[in-house]
Amino acid sequence: MSDETAALRRQFPLLAQAGGTLHYLDNAATGQIHEAALDAMVQHERYARGNVLRAGHRLAQTATLAYQRARGQVAQFLNAAHPDEIVFTSGATAALNLVAQAYADLCKPGDEIVVSVAEHHSNLIPWQQLRDRAGVGLRFVPLGAGARLDLSGLRALVGRRCRLIALTHASNVTGAVTDVGPVVEQARAVGAHVLLDGAQRAPHGPVDVRALGVDFYVFSGHKCYGPGGVGVLWGRGEFLDAMPPSATGGGMVERVTLERADYAAPPRRFEAGTPPVAQAVGLGEALAWMSRQDWPRIERRLAGLTARLIEGLLAVPRLHLAGPLDARDRVPVVSFWLEGLHSHDVCQVLDGLGVALRGGHHCAQPLMQALGTDAVSRASLALYNGDDDVDALLAGVREAVRILA
Ligand code: ALA
Repeated sequence: MSDETAALRRQFPLLAQAGGTLHYLDNAATGQIHEAALDAMVQHERYARGNVLRAGHRLAQTATLAYQRARGQVAQFLNAAHPDEIVFTSGATAALNLVAQAYADLCKPGDEIVVSVAEHHSNLIPWQQLRDRAGVGLRFVPLGAGARLDLSGLRALVGRRCRLIALTHASNVTGAVTDVGPVVEQARAVGAHVLLDGAQRAPHGPVDVRALGVDFYVFSGHKCYGPGGVGVLWGRGEFLDAMPPSATGGGMVERVTLERADYAAPPRRFEAGTPPVAQAVGLGEALAWMSRQDWPRIERRLAGLTARLIEGLLAVPRLHLAGPLDARDRVPVVSFWLEGLHSHDVCQVLDGLGVALRGGHHCAQPLMQALGTDAVSRASLALYNGDDDVDALLAGVREAVRILA
């Protein structure tokens, strides 16, 4: 392990405590929390706990300032035009459901939504519900070479009735990063909007939503070295303004009578009830820490590790890789399956050797079908992973084959 990797690991309490006994390669499911996020949350709960955007007493004001500061830190991470474009949710799933429910009101029967066969269920089922409730058509971008999205038929797929294209920014199974440029171009040609599910891309460095040219972006805190229970919906100001709330209650209104409610402007309109304040504070600190890292350098290092991992896996007989073989335009997520062996058994053997992987369908069953398998084992790397983790994984896979085959 390099000095750089060792220094990073010391900043993650669980990894520092585990020493060399844990090879944590399940970062796509949840990343380890950074000490800055944890400390900020403890500080907040010990010394500044109050409800936000409500009371005028000093503690409530301190809590409100911390909460709004976190909104600013998220806005900076995404290069959003204004902090008010940031809505805190309980996670990426809640953010996707929020947009889908708003579109149930904004769409007319016969309108269309385009998604892909590679989506996590959380960016598929909300649109299936929208189809069933609002008579909206669903169309699917297919899988192409190297298990990347095949965008060559986009022009035929995105018609005049298309209202929204909702795609993964990076697949939680194949690691492939979506080529967003042509998607935005085609959406603009027909007046549709573009949403990216950034749950797997955001953990790999700041995102520039304005340079991407998209309209909505969602991600989760726990995959970005922050706490669980908090996530983000970013939307262009004018689009959030046009959207009705999906949840109603306290804190999201201007005036309420027995007959009606006038909703507050975004983002409050979408944050009914007491929000996850400490979690937002922790996420803000995690993203601020991420924003200070040297990402081109980290990307080069992780691309090297990914290439070595892929090369090592390809040398294992009867092993199939589920994703691009090159390290270009991908995040360090590598999935594979072994003929005749179940991924849960493979992952169990690896766990016994101190290597944490996830096995199964990864909440992407249509993608499994397109890949021609029921389940895969997935190694997902983060910036604190090093050569020792890749070596342990490759040795573990060979051992799993020896024991199970
Ligand atoms: N969405 C997370 C994953 O892909 C939980 O593992």
